Amino acid sequence: MRLAVVGCGYVGLVTGSCLAEAGHEVIATDVDSARIGMLNVGRLPIYEPGLDRVMESASAAGRLRFTSDCAEAARVADAIFICVGTPPLDSGEADLSAIDNVARQIASAARSAKLVIEKSTVPAQTGEQLRHALQIYGRSNGAAFRVASNPEFLREGTAVGDFFHPDRIVVGVEDPESERQLREIYQPFLEGRFHCPVHEPKCPPAPGPVFLVTTIASAELIKHASNSFLGLKISYANVIADLCERLGGNVEEVTRAMGLDPRIGPHFLNAGLGFGGFCLPKDIQAFIRLAGKHGVDFGLLKEVEAVNKHRIEQFVEKVRRALWVVKEKTVGVLGLAFKPNTDDIRFAPAIDVVRRLIAEGARLRVSDPVAIERARSVLKGVEFVEDAYHVARGADALLLLTEWREYRELDWKRIHREMGRPLLLDGRNILAPAKMKELGFEYHSFGRPELSANPVLVSS
Ligand code: UDX
Repeated sequence: MRLAVVGCGYVGLVTGSCLAEAGHEVIATDVDSARIGMLNVGRLPIYEPGLDRVMESASAAGRLRFTSDCAEAARVADAIFICVGTPPLDSGEADLSAIDNVARQIASAARSAKLVIEKSTVPAQTGEQLRHALQIYGRSNGAAFRVASNPEFLREGTAVGDFFHPDRIVVGVEDPESERQLREIYQPFLEGRFHCPVHEPKCPPAPGPVFLVTTIASAELIKHASNSFLGLKISYANVIADLCERLGGNVEEVTRAMGLDPRIGPHFLNAGLGFGGFCLPKDIQAFIRLAGKHGVDFGLLKEVEAVNKHRIEQFVEKVRRALWVVKEKTVGVLGLAFKPNTDDIRFAPAIDVVRRLIAEGARLRVSDPVAIERARSVLKGVEFVEDAYHVARGADALLLLTEWREYRELDWKRIHREMGRPLLLDGRNILAPAKMKELGFEYHSFGRPELSANPVLVSS
């Protein structure tokens, strides 16, 4: 099928490239012509593992191309995925102006019937507004539009694998033809008929995705409800971690046991600095606003948000307590991205921590395996360093703020040798307290018993 993808951000690029790799003919478009220029010479504007290979292979097969002409994309495609950004307004509501713009462009360019699919995360009832907008903007050219919602559940860092191996494909439709078209689009994924770019030579056996057909409003709600629930799990684990600190428990033991109950599940129960990124925080905020606007007080989610915001202060307080005086201390930071395998620093807890410590007069030396370039534009007055061992050199404290695998695997004995004072604050609970103690670190994390490297002996 001929498909168009409008918006070449992370969701649009993954969607367009994977659909093209699976056999569809895809034309992707963006208002940012510099971005299209980059894509046309095979350069990716974002870091997403595996996406370069998929894009290259789909382009080489002649199934993926890029244009800054949205009208052309809208004219040639049978189905159009809207993947533009819906950033938060000051009120916390989603800004839908890009969707409105795209609707206007599609409606005025189309000369034949189109299925227009919302892929961007949007509040419930956007589908209805979109259908109305397409009718109004396209009233003079006679093309008929059908609207559908097809929320994405892609995680940054593993988005390509998630696209090829989803747990569920949700399609919100209001007529059988839209359902048929969406089934056709996703048939290769439902039948496992694609060359998987993530698992070589063969994908591990797994149940195929559930193809779930719902109303448009349900599909829109599913996205917000799912992301908000993930945030809720994390904040819940974080409050349990606080309790463990007060009562002497170990949050890892508690959440592990909780997660063994299949009704709870083991994922998203890792305590630490909390969630960041461009999805969870903004989706929760938008969901709270949407509920409020329709007379439902989602107090539960307000608390999830409050717990998450407070993690930063709690961590900075741990740093203050451990360092005593923060001013003029050299503090090394490992990890700036909001999570591993991405260079995305939007709403990253690490960035907030760094800013707070700069404000308190510390000297910051920061690093990340891939996010340094992006961080340069938002962090001023810090020293950027590539090498983790260099970050530790002479430092009064080292903070671990993103759970990169590379950091778990560092030579911690060497880090210990490099540091001025072997003080390690692990904001992601990724290292083993007993091992760190053995190596001589003064080690602090969230909700796990503190083991001092030099225990004070109390004589009786
Ligand atoms: C999320 C959803 O998972 C995905 O389905 C949706 O399509 C987009 O939003 P993403 O933003 O890529 O994906 O990040 P995710 O993997 O969900 O992690 C979010 C944040 O939570 C990260 O900052 C991570 O470090 C943190 N986190 C995650 C925890 O603090 N604890 C956990 O147990 C899990």
